[in-house]
Amino acid sequence: MKQPLSGIVLAGGTGSRLYPLTKVTNKHLLPVGRYPMIYHPLLRLREAGITRIAVVTSPEHMGDVVNLLGSGSDLGLDLTYRVQDEPGGIAQALGLCENFAREKPFLVALGDNILQDNLTSEVTIFQRQGRGARILLKSVPDPQCYGVPQFNGDKITRIIEKPESPPSEYAVTGLYFYDAKVFEYIRNLSPSRRGEYEVSDLNTAYVKDDNLTYGILNGWWGDAGTIEGWHQANELAQSLQYPFFKQKFPNQ
Ligand code: G1P
Repeated sequence: MKQPLSGIVLAGGTGSRLYPLTKVTNKHLLPVGRYPMIYHPLLRLREAGITRIAVVTSPEHMGDVVNLLGSGSDLGLDLTYRVQDEPGGIAQALGLCENFAREKPFLVALGDNILQDNLTSEVTIFQRQGRGARILLKSVPDPQCYGVPQFNGDKITRIIEKPESPPSEYAVTGLYFYDAKVFEYIRNLSPSRRGEYEVSDLNTAYVKDDNLTYGILNGWWGDAGTIEGWHQANELAQSLQYPFFKQKFPNQ
């Protein structure tokens, strides 16, 4: 029996694309369907057997995030927190979790990603893979809004962040499996033109070492980080309920 993976949920950033909804609160605390946004990735991880999770957020919002989630016991989770002092990108936020990861592989979920799929089978695939990285793709009508994989045949040759001319119809979703080598790659990254340490550059580093695999999500997926995305995620998640939560709070 393989050891369960740990998880990292990234909930930093300024939420500027959702202003003024985010004037007094963190984007990840806004409602999506019947839950606060961040419950969605947390409960998908839990469903896949991942209960030891680090949550990364900004100093401004740490208080509210901890008020909502506490130790995690309501959700059957064991939560740890890390503060991202400045919004420097996904890869930078991840770099704060090196000690948390204890040199073992883990699953990262962006706190604004809402998905229909149960991740259990993907977790098993990555545990078998044992090393390297694995990303999950979804075919979308607007790939230019996301990280986009470029293919040669069925092999990914590069990931481009928000390309003007997308080389494929796929978005790289905010679900990333990494081994502990990711922290070495992060140390070698340079900031992008928008001044952030980009997760797409990190994934491209794995591609260069021929150590990146991918899966494709079957169900719907949404990034609730923009106003259109947030509305769509609310529609998609309208009737979504997580069995664990329902069992624990039958009246909700
Ligand atoms: C981020 C990543 C992007 C990824 C997306 C998925 O973009 O930078 O590569 O495709 O999340 O949700 P953001 O939503 O922060 O602009």
